[in-house]
Amino acid sequence: MDFEKLQAVKVEKRDGVATVMLNRPEKRNAMSPQLHFEMVDVLKELAEDDETQVLVLTGAGDSWCAGQDIKLFFRELDDKPKERHLARLANHEWRWTLLSAFPKPTIAMVNGYCFGGAFVQLFACDFAIAADDAQFGLSEVNWGILPGGLVGKVIVDGLSYRDAVWYAMTGEPFDGRKAAEIKLISKSVPADKLHETTMELAQSLCRKNPQTLRTIKESLRLVRGMSVDQAADYLLAKEREMRFMDPESGRAKAMKQFLDDKTYRPGIGEYQRDEA
Ligand code: COA
Repeated sequence: MDFEKLQAVKVEKRDGVATVMLNRPEKRNAMSPQLHFEMVDVLKELAEDDETQVLVLTGAGDSWCAGQDIKLFFRELDDKPKERHLARLANHEWRWTLLSAFPKPTIAMVNGYCFGGAFVQLFACDFAIAADDAQFGLSEVNWGILPGGLVGKVIVDGLSYRDAVWYAMTGEPFDGRKAAEIKLISKSVPADKLHETTMELAQSLCRKNPQTLRTIKESLRLVRGMSVDQAADYLLAKEREMRFMDPESGRAKAMKQFLDDKTYRPGIGEYQRDEA
C-alpha cells in the first residue's frame, strides 16, 4: 500500500512502531467519510505488516480527534442513504472491528481534544496515554444527538456507570488528569513528555513475545462476556493454541532460562527474546 497517497491519515514507521496519525488538523481531526475509508485500508495493511510490532494512534496538530465530522459525516450524508451506509460501515469497521481486534498492541497517544465519537477508538486501543491538559468530552448532548455509533456502549462497559451517566448527560469537558482518575485512560503525563512516555511503552512491548501479547489481548477482551466455566475452558484452549502458534517457543525458552540456565527472574526481569 502506498501510504504517501493518503490524504486524511498519515503513517510513519520506525523501530517496530507504526504511528498512525489522523491528519485533518484544520478540522481538529474530525472524522470524515474519507478518513474512515483510509483507516480501514491502513489497519488492514498494518495488521500483517512485518515491520509493525506496535501501533500508536494519534492526531495531527493540537487535537487527537474532535469526533465525527458534523458536516461531512452527518449533514451532507443525511439525504444520501447509500453513501451514508458505506461511510457508517467503514466507520464501524476501523474504529471497532479492526482496531479492537488488531493483532498487535495498540496505544492511543492523546495529544489534545478527544470528543464524542473519538471515545470509540480510545476504548478500542489497548493502552491510552494523554497529555495532562488534553480535553475530553461527551459533547453529543450539546448537539441534540445520542452518544451513538457505539459510544454509549463503550462508556458503560469501560467506565463506572456513575461516570458514564455524568459525562454523557452533562457534556462536561474534563482534562487528561481527570481521564486518568476515572480510568478512561491508562495514565496522563505532561504534554512535553507524551511522545517519550508513549514510545518507551511501545519499545517495551516490542521486546516482548508477540504471540504471547496477541493471545493475552484476545483472551482478556473476550472473557469479559463469558461465564466462569466458559472462560476457564476458553483460556485453557487459548493457552494450548499459543504454545502451538508461537514461533519463538517462548514458554519452553523462559522455563529453560529460569530453571536450567538461571539467567532469568521473570517476576522482575524481561523475557529474553534473542537468546536460545
Ligand atoms: N465536525 C466538523 N467540523 C469540526 C468539528 C467537527 N466535529 N470539530 C471542529 N471542526 C472544525 C470547525 O468547524 C472549524 O472549521 P472552520 O475552520 O472551517 O470554521 C475547525 O474545525 C476548527 O474548529 P474551531 O472550533 O475553530 O477550533 P477550536 O480549537 O477553537 O475548538 C473544538 C476546537 C474541538 C473544541 C471545537 O471545534 C468543537 O467543539 N468541535 C466539536 C467537537 C464535538 O462536539 N465533537 C463531537 C461530535 S458528536
